[in-house]
Amino acid sequence: MSKVYIRTFGCQMNTYDSERIASIFKDMGFDQSDNPEEAEFAIINTCSVREKPQIKVQSEIGRLKSVKGIKIGVCGCVAQQEGEKFLENFKDVSFVFGTDAIGRLYEIIDLVQKGERVCDTATNDSEISIPTFSRATSVSSFVTIMKGCDNFCSYCIVPYVRGREKSRKVEEILDEIKYLVNSRVKEVTLLGQNVNSYGKNLDENINFPKLLYMVNNIDGLKRIRFVTSHPKDFSDELIDAMKNNNKVMPYLHLPLQAGSDRILSKMNRKYSYGEYREKVLKAKETIPNLTLSSDFIVGFPGETDSDFEDTIKAIKEIEYETIFAFKYSPRPKTKAFSFEDNVPDDVKSQRLTLLLQEQEKISNKLLQEYVGKSSEVLVEGLSKKDKSTYSGRNPQNRIVNFKSSNKLEIGDIVNVEITEAKKNSLFGKCN
Ligand code: SAH
Ligand code: SF4
Ligand code: F3S
Repeated sequence: MSKVYIRTFGCQMNTYDSERIASIFKDMGFDQSDNPEEAEFAIINTCSVREKPQIKVQSEIGRLKSVKGIKIGVCGCVAQQEGEKFLENFKDVSFVFGTDAIGRLYEIIDLVQKGERVCDTATNDSEISIPTFSRATSVSSFVTIMKGCDNFCSYCIVPYVRGREKSRKVEEILDEIKYLVNSRVKEVTLLGQNVNSYGKNLDENINFPKLLYMVNNIDGLKRIRFVTSHPKDFSDELIDAMKNNNKVMPYLHLPLQAGSDRILSKMNRKYSYGEYREKVLKAKETIPNLTLSSDFIVGFPGETDSDFEDTIKAIKEIEYETIFAFKYSPRPKTKAFSFEDNVPDDVKSQRLTLLLQEQEKISNKLLQEYVGKSSEVLVEGLSKKDKSTYSGRNPQNRIVNFKSSNKLEIGDIVNVEITEAKKNSLFGKCN
């Protein structure tokens, strides 16, 4: 059977899109392979959120072009951004397709096989439809519920490469989840750049909290997660939906980005730190054992030592279990691109290191708090390092490795007594 090699960069949206691309290739008679040497097609699914991932794409093309006879296709956010220019600049690339073009891959591949170089970055601005597709599933799966973003945070390229916000129809989402549950999935993560805007463009009377109630009713599904929630739209209705639906896990990724109101305003985030803190406190009071995670940008244009200090204060006050932090990277087309990128790179690096060091102390402390307690773990398989140890996740999305006196199956949910907190994971035993 012919083979396709797929390399994915970027966020969960791209992971989901790559699974869909693999399924379309499968339909056309191509098995997925990890080895480009044996593949007829190589697909690079790209990310342009910062400069670094964009540079990785060029080195991946450089690596692949030495493979004899392989046809290289580039998709995802860089492809959407560059379009025809990409074909012009990279002679070894045979085809480029944008973030709305995946459904048209059949036609694109047909043309490429006839020897044409193809670029399809057309967007569809009406509603989105993604037919349920088959995939090699584990116990946990992503389900895209919406595409695009209308928030235009001043630093962010996503609204330019993923287009306007569009929601998937409720029926389509529920059908896909039911299909996944029938093929052994126990946990779904609902994906959108801003899930709180779900349903805005649909005729149906639906919003994200209402969708959670409907997903919670699906028999056989055990756990529901979602990313990402924008703090400005994080509502009391959503807090209640998280509390009232037992399958919705007590884990919330709520990116703050910066602790200083001055910087938040320049970022066009549309909330102050005080408003953010109030919502988080309410969520913590309402949802038992809720843990939080967040994204941060350091070295945004104009960020002073005192602004950065506000970010440090914020992580100490909120006590996130995990954070993801990045050095500001100017992106073309965005509003902040016209601001002077005036924080020197070594200062950005120092701030990043400091933020991560402070966070490590907080994470260590919070992880220690699990020790001596029992956690419900969804078994995902055996630990990579030690085949006599099971591995899974607790409700708060933390990896738990544990020994068990009974034989367990993938997909079981068991009570594990936590005996030790390691750097990023927990260790325990199950009787
Ligand atoms: N929709 C999500 C995030 C998408 S991008 C949200 O609103 O939270 C993921 C993260 O990348 C962002 O949260 C931000 O922290 C970071 N990011 C985005 N643009 C960036 C840039 N130009 N420079 C550095 N980090 C950036
Ligand atoms: Fe980017 Fe802001 Fe949209 Fe997130 S909400 S994707 S950070 S513009
Ligand atoms: Fe990157 Fe596109 Fe996701 S820019 S972060 S892959 S939406």
